[in-house]
Amino acid sequence: MSSSLDIQNNVLSAAQQRIQQDLLMALDALAIPEPLKGAVHHAVMLGGKRVRPALAYATASMKPNSNYAAVRRAAVAIELIHCYSLAHDDLPCMDDDLLRRGQPTCHVAYGEDTALLAGDILQSMAFEILGSRLFDQGPAVDASIVLKQMQILATASSKMVCGQVLDLQAEGKRVDQEALENIHRNKTGALISAAVMMSAITIFDGVDVALPKLREYAQAIGLAFQVQDDILDITAETEVLGKTAGKDELVEKSTYPALMGLDKAIEYAKQLHDQAFETLEYFGDSAEELVSISKFLLERKK
Ligand code: IPE
Ligand code: IPE
Ligand code: MG
Ligand code: MG
Ligand code: MG
Repeated sequence: MSSSLDIQNNVLSAAQQRIQQDLLMALDALAIPEPLKGAVHHAVMLGGKRVRPALAYATASMKPNSNYAAVRRAAVAIELIHCYSLAHDDLPCMDDDLLRRGQPTCHVAYGEDTALLAGDILQSMAFEILGSRLFDQGPAVDASIVLKQMQILATASSKMVCGQVLDLQAEGKRVDQEALENIHRNKTGALISAAVMMSAITIFDGVDVALPKLREYAQAIGLAFQVQDDILDITAETEVLGKTAGKDELVEKSTYPALMGLDKAIEYAKQLHDQAFETLEYFGDSAEELVSISKFLLERKK
């Protein structure tokens, strides 16, 4: 009999394989000159847990026969935006990091100018793919759905940038819990929510009560994700994390462990996950894959 851990691993590794292929197809569909092409591949193809695509697929799995091409494009688009955010996050003018996904960061490998441009092109590529017919086999997806997907992604990307600037401004300062929550919800929570919602609007129409339920779920795991990222920066080893551990404390980032202490931050992440699991109960067995991914997120070690 499969254990819950086996199921979690299967759901995630199936998603990782699927997105790896789709990302490659998406990158190959566009002509990019060197060295930008190399930098884009470096930023996108090397590792990463692929949590956002996995959430998009798991959401779509709630309704068989959904328009899968639209979900595949959404998963690619969200991962491209995420990879752009990481390439820029690591730049010397931002977090100034040397290691990402166990590799030299994009600017270390390709230079700051090319890494900056790699981030730029990933951002526009995400929208280009979303509006394309890549992966289409059957009839084209309704244009109003594509438009909604674009709006969700654009809003979340802008929020990510706003969160990033607030994060940088909060370095070396003591911000209160409300301000910290605002930073985390913007810089990380928004893109995680978008992964769920871009998929959700392909399967539920605009008035379905499922949409606010899924939004509530996604907002809880989205905030929990950055709380855990802050915790792992303290508790995990660089080799496992694939990025330099202990960095937040060094540059006095405003984090949950810095604000409330490590134990309370761990407890808070757990509470947010409990809230996420409770929200999924509404969907019963159909949310099986989302439950698996949420369990993986709760237990993740990197
Ligand atoms: C790291 O995101 C940056 C945050 C938003 C916290 P992930 O932990 O999803 O990074 P990868 O994609 O697995 O490398
Ligand atoms: C990053 O937060 C959020 C992004 C929008 C990329 P962090 O700066 O904490 O992410 P890591 O720890 O470098 O992955
Ligand atoms: Mg940062
Ligand atoms: Mg960083
Ligand atoms: Mg971090």
